[in-house]
Amino acid sequence: MAGDSTLCVHEGEPVDETTGSVVTPIYQTSTFAFHDAEELSEVVRGEKSGYVYSRWSNPTVERLEQKLAALESVEDSAFFSSGMAAISTALLSIVKKGDSVVAIRDLYGETYRLFTEFLPSMGIDVSLIDTNDTEALANAVERKPKVVYIETPTNPTMKVVDIAYTAKLAHEAGSLLFVDNTFASPINQRPVKHGADLVLHSATKCINGHADVIAGAVAGSKEIVSKVRKLRRVLGGTLDPHAAWLVLRGMKTMAIRVRAQNSNAMRLAEYLEDHPKVKFVHYPGLKTHPQHEIARKQMSGYGCMLSFEIKGSMAQAMKFTESVKIAYLAGSLGGVETLVSQPSTLTHAQMKDEDKKRTGISETLIRVSVGIEDAEDIIEDFGRALESV
Ligand SMILES: Cc1ncc(COP(=O)(O)O)c(C=O)c1O
Repeated sequence: MAGDSTLCVHEGEPVDETTGSVVTPIYQTSTFAFHDAEELSEVVRGEKSGYVYSRWSNPTVERLEQKLAALESVEDSAFFSSGMAAISTALLSIVKKGDSVVAIRDLYGETYRLFTEFLPSMGIDVSLIDTNDTEALANAVERKPKVVYIETPTNPTMKVVDIAYTAKLAHEAGSLLFVDNTFASPINQRPVKHGADLVLHSATKCINGHADVIAGAVAGSKEIVSKVRKLRRVLGGTLDPHAAWLVLRGMKTMAIRVRAQNSNAMRLAEYLEDHPKVKFVHYPGLKTHPQHEIARKQMSGYGCMLSFEIKGSMAQAMKFTESVKIAYLAGSLGGVETLVSQPSTLTHAQMKDEDKKRTGISETLIRVSVGIEDAEDIIEDFGRALESV
């Protein structure tokens, strides 16, 4: 198997046979014409391969799907118009009324709403367990859930969940393990290698990497991905070909971008850990991180995301986010620019106060997505902003 950068640049993208174009064309079409009515009907029936309608499949989107599958070391992947479309379609393709699912409490805000409001309203029983409470997980899987759902590292407190251990418990109960791999990216972590059954991504983040597209993906075996794809055709959350082309372009540099982000994030985490105005730093690469050893076992790099708590009030935390000059005060993550935000009022505003407290999302917690600017400049920017609060 080729290395990560080679896969990022070449996988799924043969030189265009008719023109020699080294860049994949954007097949910006909703429909595909046929000369032969019988052939059209064979393709519709699935007896012959081909393209009919871009909500079902599209050549630009398919090339992207091939590239991500190789980078996640799986058989297949399917792309969506957002990470949430990928997550909701994947869950609904497996879980039906009367089934149960288990998820960790540390979930991205909108995923949390899907689990706590929407799935229960459809007659699906949801158990939320405290992240890394192994006894609670062992008890919860006794109910034989269809799916065990985790994020690792978690958003925004950077807890690391042992994928291999969770997969073992899930499989013993006959459940599938779904892992949201958005924070790590396939460059730093391949959940299927540790036993996961399906990998989910907000491709809006490290995969695209340039803050100019909303996209999502699922990756796994042909069997599971084909079920998800069937439901995608019905629910309609397919990715547009032009957005797919932008993601293909973004992915060419994913390995070098993510490695530069890993290095910058480590330097910033070490700087913040020693800063007198910082209470603590959550970054899996730090030896002081409670699950550093698990991170070392399942991650090849520690990613672009960190969070830290400043000593002071919510107003001072807010002032910090307004005082940075190189970093932007904005949601989202994984792009080339450094971003800061306060999860309690942005990404996790929808979470119940009780769950915010339980998961450690305090009012003074600041989340950082570290970009690819020069590390010295990011550190200087943060130092200046901390001095001003
Ligand atoms: C960990 C995680 N999963 C899923 C999503 C949802 O992705 P999207 O915004 O692309 O729908 C996000 C968005 O921030 C996220 O951070």
